[in-house]
Amino acid sequence: MGRKFFVGGNWKCNGTAEEVKKIVSMLNGGQVPSQDVVEVVVSPPFVFLPLVKAELRSDFHVAAQNCWVKKGGAYTGEISAEMLVNLDIPWVILGHSERRLILGESNEFVGDKVAYALAQGLKVIACVGETLEQREAGTTMEVVAAQTKAIADRVSDWSNVVIAYEPVWAIGTGKVATPAQAQEVHCELRKWLQANVSADVAATTRIIYGGSVNGGNCKELGGQPDVDGFLVGGASLKPEFIDIIKAAEVKKA
Ligand code: 13P
Repeated sequence: MGRKFFVGGNWKCNGTAEEVKKIVSMLNGGQVPSQDVVEVVVSPPFVFLPLVKAELRSDFHVAAQNCWVKKGGAYTGEISAEMLVNLDIPWVILGHSERRLILGESNEFVGDKVAYALAQGLKVIACVGETLEQREAGTTMEVVAAQTKAIADRVSDWSNVVIAYEPVWAIGTGKVATPAQAQEVHCELRKWLQANVSADVAATTRIIYGGSVNGGNCKELGGQPDVDGFLVGGASLKPEFIDIIKAAEVKKA
């Protein structure tokens, strides 16, 4: 169906220039499947983007971790989509739960950001996911559908969108979703896209999983039919990120 495996590394708010250089040289030395098999995108903090872009191997790409919701201007502390385009940064992560929950980004605000970033020519990793309370209350699909709807209401071309399903309770906790839990939500999300956007968008949009992915659990998760890759936090700073990229090979089997 042409959904190329996608592995993103979200470095979050980590690293010094020296540490970043070390991670880049680790990545540059890693043996991974070809670009026909896997798309790799790493997302350093804004200040390190030019450094990483300059030093990173050419078959890996970079993403910003956020950008402003509209055209830049008098917005102190923000980074605009136009600036990312100007520096040839191809990707941006939007709607991460750490921003939704800590900074109060609403579904609508995230939807506006996704639409604006796409309109400027960026590719978007759009994050959705429920909290533990929401899962325990049985509202997981309602929550991720509402988050996805706010994007769908504002976006018509999905070809530059990757959806990252990241259950909040699995992020940074070591409590990874079971392969069955991930598959269930990914499958439901795909059905939602089919019913509410189109069969083609449902069939072609990559839905990747994030939350305590590591070198040990990536193959089984990646083997699920609706899991098209990962968004990796903590383990993306370590050599095991190479093993996670290699998990793309499970799709060949
Ligand atoms: P961890 O892999 O550290 O759980 O983080 C996942 C994440 O939030 C990626 O965006």
